[in-house]
Amino acid sequence: MKKDYLNYDKIAQLYNQRYPVSQKWERGQALLDIAKRIKAESILEVGSGTGYWLNLLKPTTNQLYGLDYSMGMLTQAKGQAAPLKLIRGSATNLPLKQEAFDFIYCVDAIHHFGNHQAFIQEAYRLLKTNGVFAVIGHDPHDENSSNWYIYNYFDTVYDTDLRRYPSGASVLKMMKAEGFKNTSAEIVEHIQNIHVGEAVLKDPFLKHNATSQLALLSEKQYQDGIEKIKQTIGLAKDKKENVVFRSEINVKMFLGYKI
Ligand SMILES: C[S@@+](CC[C@H](N)C(=O)[O-])C[C@H]1O[C@@H](n2cnc3c(N)ncnc32)[C@H](O)[C@@H]1O
Repeated sequence: MKKDYLNYDKIAQLYNQRYPVSQKWERGQALLDIAKRIKAESILEVGSGTGYWLNLLKPTTNQLYGLDYSMGMLTQAKGQAAPLKLIRGSATNLPLKQEAFDFIYCVDAIHHFGNHQAFIQEAYRLLKTNGVFAVIGHDPHDENSSNWYIYNYFDTVYDTDLRRYPSGASVLKMMKAEGFKNTSAEIVEHIQNIHVGEAVLKDPFLKHNATSQLALLSEKQYQDGIEKIKQTIGLAKDKKENVVFRSEINVKMFLGYKI
């Protein structure tokens, strides 16, 4: 597991670049809808990073807790407009009292937690009765849901993701095993970014530290991938063709209830 470990302290200062103000994120709306529907008074995000999603939930409650093990990310989260209650800790051993929260969720983070089952068990312990649990992220195991050019140009990235991410089916299975009821899966956001030719080199998600997928690569592995992209563009140009780089990813939400 160590080789999949990414030190978020190193990229914390630049992390919020992925959230330009111009972009509306449907997964944020999905979180807001749940918080409003269940009238959540206390909410915990595990692997909360810079607190971007928690800040969106500001209109619902002032009991917004964020847990993360990166001090760098927690420091960035202090800058959010919402007064967040920030805790340093591990997702698989949450340093919090049981039955304390109405809503617990994670976004783009479960693949970092190592022991997925232990995290889901902890979420169950910390939820109040009638509480809701949500895991949001993409599922590289579902080929129809993750057509991402990064997987084609950078060696090892796809295999690493298959190893790190639990499949959607296994998330639901683990939820049921811990006692969650009425489990479900739905697509909450469809990311579609298409870059043609050299424009791809300006894709913010192609920067070495923009995503954990690329940040886990050595400088050499990263540059090899960039070189492959440039060669493909060059070959297409020679043939007077355009090469298209697709990022078409379904973001899913796995839900369960503690009844
Ligand atoms: C991709 S970021 C997602 C941050 C935030 N949820 C978002 O969507 O912007 C993953 C976060 O999980 C945190 N993390 C990774 N492993 C963790 C663990 N075992 N326990 C707690 N936090 C962890 C990282 O420090 C990082 O802030």
